[in-house]
Amino acid sequence: RTVYVNGEYLPEDQATVSIFDRGFLMADAVYEVVSVLDGKLLDFAGHMARLTRSLEALEMDNPLSEDEYLDAHRQLVERNGITDGLVYLQVSRGNPGDRDFAYPPKGTVPTTVMFTQAKPGLADAPAARTGWKIVSVEDQRWGRRDIKTVQLLYPSMAKMEAKARGADDAWLIEDGKVTEGTSNNAYIVKDGKIITRELSHDILHGITRAAVLRFAREAQMQVEERSFTLAEAQAAAEAFVTSASAFVMPVVEIDGTSVGGGKVGPVATRLREIYLEESR
Ligand code: PDD
Repeated sequence: RTVYVNGEYLPEDQATVSIFDRGFLMADAVYEVVSVLDGKLLDFAGHMARLTRSLEALEMDNPLSEDEYLDAHRQLVERNGITDGLVYLQVSRGNPGDRDFAYPPKGTVPTTVMFTQAKPGLADAPAARTGWKIVSVEDQRWGRRDIKTVQLLYPSMAKMEAKARGADDAWLIEDGKVTEGTSNNAYIVKDGKIITRELSHDILHGITRAAVLRFAREAQMQVEERSFTLAEAQAAAEAFVTSASAFVMPVVEIDGTSVGGGKVGPVATRLREIYLEESR
């Protein structure tokens, strides 16, 4: 695989980053994941807009222009022959000096890395036909989940707990309400309405969420942005999640209770079709 590090394209085993990099020592880094279908980047502009917001929230300089990011994404897709898969992009604050909790607010040289992951048949994931099983786990992440940082230890632990309990993913619960999945936004369908938590610091502002809600409204579906409890989700007609890598993924079981009779529902199926049609 060819990877990108600070302007250079290198074989992955020759790419290096300093051990003093604050991304490595302090998770002082932000990231984006852009899906690739048929060699095409999905929702690229949206991901770049969120990258800019994440960097600004952490007072980090943006090392590249949107055109330069686009060129690097395209080059990596091309050089690695990616038809279906993703491009991972990470910008960390770099290593302005010794390990120190304080950092110079601006002007440090960030570390920029990008790499691809091939995922053949990404759009035809068999799970999209059977749906995911979800378990609930307490949301113990920090309070700025709208910034897409690489502090992913708690979501990783929640994912491991889900797997240990025979499920595909976990929904995180705070104050009795679902915030989101470990790496996706959460939805239910009730009385024909699509319900998903409103945007705040409590959840990541999903780029797929924005696209799916736009397509839903264009298709005259009703959308309600509000939080919901686990019990409401278990009693819903349908449930699903969205993310750049899962697109629209139906949920058929929550904490052992079947949702929608344990079958993938029509709204999730339709939204997945629309999303894949419209964003390709
Ligand atoms: N995760 N919520 C969280 C906590 C996420 O990590 C993600 C994305 C999403 C969905 O956002 P988007 O639609 O922009 O992908 C919601 C990526 C895919 C990841 O960590 O791999």
